[in-house]
Amino acid sequence: MNTTPTVHPVDPAFAADARITREQYQRLYAGSLEQPEAFWGRIGERLDWMTPPTVIKDTSFDLHDFRIRWYADGELNAAANCLDRHLAERGDKTAIIFEPDSPDAPAQHISYRELHARTCQAANALRALGVRKGDRVTIYLPMIPEAVVSMLACARIGAVHSVVFGGFAASSIADRVADCGSKLIITADEGRRGGRGVPLKANVDAALKLPGTNSVETVLVVRHSGAAVDMQMPRDRWFDAVVDSQPVECEPERMNAEDPLFILYTSGSTGKPKGVLHTTAGYLVYCAYTHEAVFDLREDDVYWCTADIGWVTGHSYIVYGPLANGATALVFEGVPTWPDSARFWQVIDKHAVTIFYTAPTAIRALMREGDEPVKSTSRGSLRLLGSVGEPINPEAWRWYFEVVGGSRCPVVDTWWQTETGGIMISPLPGAMDLKPGSATRPFFGVQPALVDPAGRVLEGEAEGNLVITDSWPGQMRTVYGDHQRFIDTYFRTYPGNYFSGDGCRRDADGDYWITGRVDDVINVSGHRIGTAEVESALVSHPKVAEAAVVGFPHDVKGQGIYAYVTLVAGEASSDGLRDELVRHVRAQIGPIATPDHLQWAPGLPKTRSGKIMRRILRKIAENATDQLGDTSTLADPSVVESLVRDRRVP
Ligand code: PRX
Repeated sequence: MNTTPTVHPVDPAFAADARITREQYQRLYAGSLEQPEAFWGRIGERLDWMTPPTVIKDTSFDLHDFRIRWYADGELNAAANCLDRHLAERGDKTAIIFEPDSPDAPAQHISYRELHARTCQAANALRALGVRKGDRVTIYLPMIPEAVVSMLACARIGAVHSVVFGGFAASSIADRVADCGSKLIITADEGRRGGRGVPLKANVDAALKLPGTNSVETVLVVRHSGAAVDMQMPRDRWFDAVVDSQPVECEPERMNAEDPLFILYTSGSTGKPKGVLHTTAGYLVYCAYTHEAVFDLREDDVYWCTADIGWVTGHSYIVYGPLANGATALVFEGVPTWPDSARFWQVIDKHAVTIFYTAPTAIRALMREGDEPVKSTSRGSLRLLGSVGEPINPEAWRWYFEVVGGSRCPVVDTWWQTETGGIMISPLPGAMDLKPGSATRPFFGVQPALVDPAGRVLEGEAEGNLVITDSWPGQMRTVYGDHQRFIDTYFRTYPGNYFSGDGCRRDADGDYWITGRVDDVINVSGHRIGTAEVESALVSHPKVAEAAVVGFPHDVKGQGIYAYVTLVAGEASSDGLRDELVRHVRAQIGPIATPDHLQWAPGLPKTRSGKIMRRILRKIAENATDQLGDTSTLADPSVVESLVRDRRVP
């Protein structure tokens, strides 16, 4: 029997000591909308500026007068804000706790002083290799301290980093390198995950054989696992050989507030992944302030976000937010289920973690292992839990709250996106009642609205598409190299508003419940994958004539990938070919895009004008074949019958 109420009022003990109480939230939120310049001007003072800004907010979502500029005349350096300014008071404080993949390997504690020195050395090395302000550097590293060092080293010299998740395959690396014209790649011999090696250097070698990658002059290789790799001189250089001899001081580059800080590729409904571009000041202010407020940060917290540095959560809430705040952040190389499914909880005990931030997919996977692995540990250090990346189902929320947090720790369900730079809708743990499955209320300065497909704003209790009506500092500024695509993707559907791509419900109390993507993006284990990307990987196989990909509900991953494939005439379907196509997608994109089900489709349901009716394919994949709706507009309705008959039973 479940006795947990659906509303968890703010814990009075937590609220008594919280950074932001309910009354303060209400007052500050109102102020942040009424006087955004005054509000964000004051928040901006938390950073160290080389030139303090006088213009705070200069933004308009009006398509005729479009601009997004924050702190536009200010100058600063992001790495100096994450390192140098902490040295006087926090030089010996641990900035990074590194917990390696293997529990038998020693953990490392890296102080702010040491992280500063290592970053300066790497920055000097990049400069020595000819990297200049504005140049792009691709980072393809495992979750090791050098990943943080490399990002900050780029920021220090004004180079724009593009971190590529270590799970992406060669052609995904190549696409991302080619799109932004990277001059240099930082990688490692191998990553280690769950006791196995990930051949990062070999993937880079394969990527650099692909067209469009000639911009790369140098590959820096971190010696990590010690595995033998091919070094192609003079292109390839060992990281330690170039970095360790550099001076431990490096003058930070003076950056304008709106100079680019990084590019991060993310999937959309159409075409290739977009290079989401974030700039320096607004992003840093926003991720630092949200990190402090949402996680109710204290000086002595040990904060652990389990995301990978290859995703925006790793950028904002492992690197930039926590380090700008002078916090202690744990960097974990491994996986939740190795050597066994108690690993997360053991690491929490080992390092006395106080704040733990993870994804629903991990919670669901660990929940399946039962309570025992959790209860074999203490977790007494924990005081706050966070969730991110996908909707959290109430059952997983409750397990997280009750079993992991022992019903003591508030759970902050944080909704945001690569594009938003930082958390947009989330409880503040001292200010808001919690509801399992609801991200509750907007952060300061964030104005959400729900609209119907015609763009009419829905008031009160309602369900619709989630838009944000005015700019916030952490917002992306452009799609790298394609500003028009930025405007068209986010601001044209509902002119005057930023369109998130998510559906959302607002309840009678005014709390927000994200229902998931309303476009052709699938959220698999918290990773965004465009159906179009998987389809183009499938049709790049010579035996495939056509493919359509949809998401379907998956118990652990949230959503799974369901592919319908039509073979070229004369090719016979077989289980062997199915396996080959699945392998082909993995090789083209990476393991995160592995189709869960692949159904042979003699034909795809299309309208008479040739448009694939994805709605019908989704219903078949969901096994909701009684809800197929009107199929009379199809060019050939009999196609549907055969697809329903041959459905792959998950
Ligand atoms: O659908 C929403 C979902 O993840 C998408 C953004 O993915 P990405 O850019 O990869 O960033 C993930 C980490 C911020 C959103 O459009 N999403 C993210 N957080 C939540 C969520 N859905 C529901 N609840 C959340 N807390």
